[in-house]
Amino acid sequence: MKVDTKSNFKVVPHSEHKRLRHIEIENEAITRFLEKVEQISLERAEYVPFIRFELAVELRQAVGVAFEKKVKEILHDRETGGFTIGLNGLTTKSEEFVKFATALTHLIGLPNHDAMSNKFYAIFGVKHEFDSDTYLRKAYRILELHTDGTFVEEQTDWVLMMKMSEKNAVGGESRLLHLDDWEDLDRFSKHPLASHPFKFSYADRGSKNVKDEVFQSSFFYSQNKPCIRYNHQCTHPQTIEEGVYLKEIQDSIENSLGTTPVGLPVGQLVMINNNFWLHGREPFVKDIKLERALMRQRGSFFTI
Ligand SMILES: [Fe+2]
Repeated sequence: MKVDTKSNFKVVPHSEHKRLRHIEIENEAITRFLEKVEQISLERAEYVPFIRFELAVELRQAVGVAFEKKVKEILHDRETGGFTIGLNGLTTKSEEFVKFATALTHLIGLPNHDAMSNKFYAIFGVKHEFDSDTYLRKAYRILELHTDGTFVEEQTDWVLMMKMSEKNAVGGESRLLHLDDWEDLDRFSKHPLASHPFKFSYADRGSKNVKDEVFQSSFFYSQNKPCIRYNHQCTHPQTIEEGVYLKEIQDSIENSLGTTPVGLPVGQLVMINNNFWLHGREPFVKDIKLERALMRQRGSFFTI
């Protein structure tokens, strides 16, 4: 197979977050990718897992092998571990957004099955009124910082969120905190309860479709640096001390000066290393016509 070795992208600092990078792909390369995958329907990519890798190959062909290396390098690099990227407004089709994101995730790893959608990705909406049993879809309150995948057995090394559409949406930016920007990381990661196996489970929430009970520590080490598993809504403390510890973590991360809102235009996605980034959402400004849709994929890295 002939692989294009020419680079058709550049990496620039992100304008709203000092640790994030922004990857700009040249229009010509995006157009080439979209043309190549035009005949591959999203349904086929959903039904036939190896088609998702075909999308990845086409993206690598269109943008160059250096692109694949750079994406992996950024996500594994503790200093950054995250980037934004988009389709430069060359398409507004939801199906093409998903194909692009899927190509990207299959260059670096494998998405987990998303029990909320029963697919390898999920698109979820936020509206003025939404019947929900978690904070994910409640528009007018903050979605507190957390990591994804704490309540499932699969490894969740990375999270991708892509803005699919929005109408009458003011606010709702992603809130992001890199662990090394958290003033109290040392205090909590060296606490006696840091290695305690907490019970993580969403078995009490119907919308998640997951009955697992997972026992894991809230802190662990990778590349000799502390990493975190934290989700306030699905961690079940069993004692007062455990409850106080979790609450103090939340108060500390929510008030950290490192917690930064980052806007995401339609057609752009943010991808972060879930082991050392926490994410959440700013509240939206009230509007009865508010509509926003986000796609997520989360999964594991290939071993490199
Ligand atoms: Fe999340």
